[in-house]
Amino acid sequence: MNAIRDIDSLVDPTHDELARQGFVSRLRKHIMKDVADDMRTAYDTAVKPMFVAAKGREPETGDEVRDAIADNMTYRVWSSLRYNAQEMVWESVREEVERQLPEMISIADQASQSNSHGGSLILDPDLEIPDYVDTLDVHLMPGCWQDEHTAGDVAQGAIYAHGGLVFRGSLMPSKTRSGVAASVSQWLSIRYPEFKPEKILETGCTIGNNLFPYKDIFPEAELTGVDVAAPCLRYAHARAAARGIDAKFSQQNAETLNFADSTFDLIVSSFFFHELSVEATKRVLAECRRMLKPGGMMVHMELPPASQVDAYYNFFLDWDNEHNNEPHYRDFRSQECVDLMTSAGFSADECFTASIPDVGGADPGYFRQVALGETSPPKHGIYTSWGLFGAIKAA
Ligand SMILES: C[S@@+](CC[C@H](N)C(=O)[O-])C[C@H]1O[C@@H](n2cnc3c(N)ncnc32)[C@H](O)[C@@H]1O
Repeated sequence: MNAIRDIDSLVDPTHDELARQGFVSRLRKHIMKDVADDMRTAYDTAVKPMFVAAKGREPETGDEVRDAIADNMTYRVWSSLRYNAQEMVWESVREEVERQLPEMISIADQASQSNSHGGSLILDPDLEIPDYVDTLDVHLMPGCWQDEHTAGDVAQGAIYAHGGLVFRGSLMPSKTRSGVAASVSQWLSIRYPEFKPEKILETGCTIGNNLFPYKDIFPEAELTGVDVAAPCLRYAHARAAARGIDAKFSQQNAETLNFADSTFDLIVSSFFFHELSVEATKRVLAECRRMLKPGGMMVHMELPPASQVDAYYNFFLDWDNEHNNEPHYRDFRSQECVDLMTSAGFSADECFTASIPDVGGADPGYFRQVALGETSPPKHGIYTSWGLFGAIKAA
């Protein structure tokens, strides 16, 4: 019997908080769909023709679209609404988290003292937080991933957990199996049915959203999550404890990890590398190669490289670079994933890229066909498909 209360159950807004969060969620949806559609129309009917008239060709890069559209009023409305809605996401959950913080900290404390679920949490108060995390509030989230203001603080993990639900427009945690880890683990089980990883590592695990689902497909596997942010790791560990998931969490920089060579069968990440500098990305990938067992696999989910989508979509995606405190976003996307992996020591033969549908949204037959390479992979879509890159280390 597990006595640890689920820290997620404190996602428990008052009437007014829920009303505010619902408003922000719907505002975001309106911006990302209706206003974004208006902006696309403005681009097609006004911005692009002006560019073509001046240059005799269409914009070829995201940066050219960005510069051409910069003074367009529909763009300016979209961009400022999007920026403000992003700030409102975190603000809409702040009071709720502040109110429940003492109880959350006590739950996380209890979890780390008992570890009755077989998991563990190792924090390193002396860890040097990399500049690309420490010097800015990524995603405009005040305090970023790692700020701590009281002993045993979990606030940043809680803000990410609660704010994530508002951001995605789902005010309750989803009951269906969907998302990156659910999709990748399902894909692995279809595409590589013999592959049964015993040890799985996630780099940049935050609060475990895309680590825990591996247990559903690989119940015997030992899960490890590393992150630089103590408040997120405490939150993740408390969640695992309540769910009886024996995951091990460790506060480390993924550029230099303390695990022995050839430790892991599977190394995964999601939404991680675009927040790192390109040099740091290469160091993490080299660490992945070192830590993978021969025959082991790494699978990383990321945004599509600039070369794979058109100029307008590049502009749309790269908005985050300037406006969402993600200054490495464009640099990451301008790389080819296979080049990144080969420069980290993998041979081109070991590397792969793939695109898979979200397992929660796709017809199971279609998902299976994509996994088996029997039909074309889906185009990139936000939350509807996942772009992957990875490698199978030669045995
Ligand atoms: C966008 S979040 C990842 C989200 C998470 N994978 C998920 O799917 O919910 C990026 C995470 O990477 C962590 N991080 C950034 N740089 C890191 C590094 N060098 N080593 C370990 N963790 C890092 C941040 O603290 C943050 O928790």
